[in-house]
Amino acid sequence: MKAKIAELIAANVPDLSVEDITTLIEIPPKPELGDFAFPCFRLAKTMRKAPQMIAAEIAEKIGSQDFLSEIKVEGAYLNFFVNKDMFAKGILTNALDENYGSAEDGKGKTVCIDYSSPNVAKNFHVGHLRTTIIGNSLYKIFSKLGYHVERINHLGDWGTQFGKLIVAYKNWGNEDAVKERGVAELMELYVKFHEEAEKNDSLNDEARAWFVKMEQGDEEALKIWQWFKDISLQEYKGTYALLGVDFDHYTGESFYRDMTDDIVGKLTEAGLLTESEGARVVKLDEYDMPPCLVVKNDGSSIYATRDLAAVLYRKKTFNFDKCLYVTGQEQKLHFAQVFKVIELLGYDWAKDSLVHIPYGLVSLEGAKLSTRNGNVIYAEDILLEAVAKIKEIIEEKNPELPDKDNTARKIGVGAVLFNDLYNQRIKDVSFKWEKLLNFDGETGPYVQYTYARCASILRKQEDFAAGADIDYAALSEPETIDLIKEISRFPQVVKDAAERFEPSVVARYSVALAQSFNKFYNTVRVSVEEENLRKARLTLVYITKKIIHDSMDLLGIECPEQM
Ligand code: ARG
Repeated sequence: MKAKIAELIAANVPDLSVEDITTLIEIPPKPELGDFAFPCFRLAKTMRKAPQMIAAEIAEKIGSQDFLSEIKVEGAYLNFFVNKDMFAKGILTNALDENYGSAEDGKGKTVCIDYSSPNVAKNFHVGHLRTTIIGNSLYKIFSKLGYHVERINHLGDWGTQFGKLIVAYKNWGNEDAVKERGVAELMELYVKFHEEAEKNDSLNDEARAWFVKMEQGDEEALKIWQWFKDISLQEYKGTYALLGVDFDHYTGESFYRDMTDDIVGKLTEAGLLTESEGARVVKLDEYDMPPCLVVKNDGSSIYATRDLAAVLYRKKTFNFDKCLYVTGQEQKLHFAQVFKVIELLGYDWAKDSLVHIPYGLVSLEGAKLSTRNGNVIYAEDILLEAVAKIKEIIEEKNPELPDKDNTARKIGVGAVLFNDLYNQRIKDVSFKWEKLLNFDGETGPYVQYTYARCASILRKQEDFAAGADIDYAALSEPETIDLIKEISRFPQVVKDAAERFEPSVVARYSVALAQSFNKFYNTVRVSVEEENLRKARLTLVYITKKIIHDSMDLLGIECPEQM
């Protein structure tokens, strides 16, 4: 509608392009002022007339149009009233389509998303929870827009820390304890190593030696390392199952260990490496960054070396249009350095294709969480605690609810995810049970509750088939029109979210849609006698339900049919 109006105006004013006009068109603050407004101030200069006169002239030139019920001149503004019948029909016919909100923008293009990527032998903490759910949501958003997505888990599974762990295990570990306690035991062994190494520095040399052995393919070293990795992965996969998150590749840092020589070779050839205290670095002073360390003085590779190798491997293997890295903002410098080094190697695509997607911290103050041994917080425990709290509420308020466990899981997990995704990702997230489990307010449970409400309305209407000959003219109340407008925004919301790499755009939209629906439902009666009207209103309920489902799905959140 906006595009149509912009074209009409453009055809009747000499100096502005359709694009200029589109940006000038406003949505009036009050519905009495129309659906769209065009201010004529900017034309006054070029047309050398009072804006009021210009508005009146344009209105006259446009004349009557079948999709507009009225064009009113209000001072310097042209106010457009869209023909409600056609307006509703246009939007709702689109919205009834199963693929409403999907697009083909990404057809033939690939996006790699590097996310989650926990560190083997360490717990999966709240920071990893954020990258996991932001990455998962971006995967869904880009897929909806037709992109092919490669989901990559860049596990932290290589580096000197594994030399330390091997030393600790050999000195103080025992097989059964590791089997039984998993990552918790490995973390304790790691702490123990540092305590002992304080007193006895030779342990550090031993650890370095073990890592060198790993890099040289020593069988014993690799066997222990692989075992630690399997144990950790098994735990992480439990968390992924709870979240409903999956990956196409578990290619961690170790995957690139044989490719680091190649990258060092390329850097040497390009004359980019400089010796610095026995290590080799790429100087980046010119770009206001400290040097990027590529080879340590003992000859081993580091985090950045493996990331450099990974970029080239992914480009070669997936030929991505974009490669996104979802990590905390404390890694901003690391990625700026890696991207710059790739660019310096002559890969021009680096500038536009490699994108760091940072996010803020999670503050657990006020969460009063139960912790496992050693006061370590596991993301999984938070999720399970949320589920347990929801289960309690269900037992108290709706003990007859079928499939209680599954419903509690959807709501509990959904509440944590929604709280995490509702604000711009760069902002810190605060974690307060009372807030995020609230069924009223800007929360996951509120949106899910609205969904269940729609489901319940539709369950009671057995003879209703969505989309069958609807009398759109019957939809006229302001609350109804507002809801239709909200429905019309969905496709653009998905695009905006992708463009800004911001799941919060979708989360905010889902709340706005739910609020608009509840306003509609509280003022307009749905199950009226008159068949036409009832069907038209039920169609709105049906569409709202579908879009809530689809937008929550873009966030990785499931909606129960009943709650
Ligand atoms: N393992 C890292 C961490 O936990 C994140 C890895 C991110 N991805 C990458 N390609 N560097 O902080």
